[in-house]
Amino acid sequence: MALHIVSHPLIQHKLGLMRDVRLSTKSFRELANEVSALLTYEATSDFELEPTEVPGWDHKAIEVQQLRGKKVTVVPILRAGLGMLDGVVDLIPAAKISVVGLYRDETTLEPVAYFEKLASDLAQRTALVIDPMLATGGTMIATLDMLKAKGCKEIRVLVLVAAPEGVAKVTAAHPDVAIYTAALDERLNDDGYIVPGLGDAGDRIFG
Ligand code: PRP
Repeated sequence: MALHIVSHPLIQHKLGLMRDVRLSTKSFRELANEVSALLTYEATSDFELEPTEVPGWDHKAIEVQQLRGKKVTVVPILRAGLGMLDGVVDLIPAAKISVVGLYRDETTLEPVAYFEKLASDLAQRTALVIDPMLATGGTMIATLDMLKAKGCKEIRVLVLVAAPEGVAKVTAAHPDVAIYTAALDERLNDDGYIVPGLGDAGDRIFG
């Protein structure tokens, strides 16, 4: 199963701070971006390099390594995914941004899509889908369906917290998609919230 629980001490420390209900919106936002940058570092660790020649400090040609044809589009899921975007783009400043909007109907827990503006060359890019929460998995599956329907071939998912139920559903529907999460929490409660989780990440990011 392509699940990566990124258990680096810095991530665990920062996520622990985020679970504290007393945390301010400002601090929650800052930490969401910091954890997202660390997840990006891990999620791109197998990107391939290729040698290229540049003039070195003494103007003699030297060989350096650069990313091989690796073009990225970052896909924040509105609205909470925006809370991770700066952290990802800090590390991949040349990435294009593809925005999708989905919310979860609070009664049925089914995803409702309302916005889609994707990079025009999606098929040539690796997509990094970002959303703080992977709960029932419905939102993520709908997003991955949407991206694949538009030709996207290589997709990775970055979330702050995932529920086992959601991970199982997403990996069953999209076994080719790797999921990078800072934590795999215990379960979903009866209202579809992750336990212990972070609460409503959108509300905590936007206030
Ligand atoms: C939250 C979260 C995910 C979704 C996860 O968004 O940010 O997008 O729920 O739930 P699922 O895995 O059960 O589908 P929400 O619906 O609260 O919308 P928001 O980001 O606009 O606040």
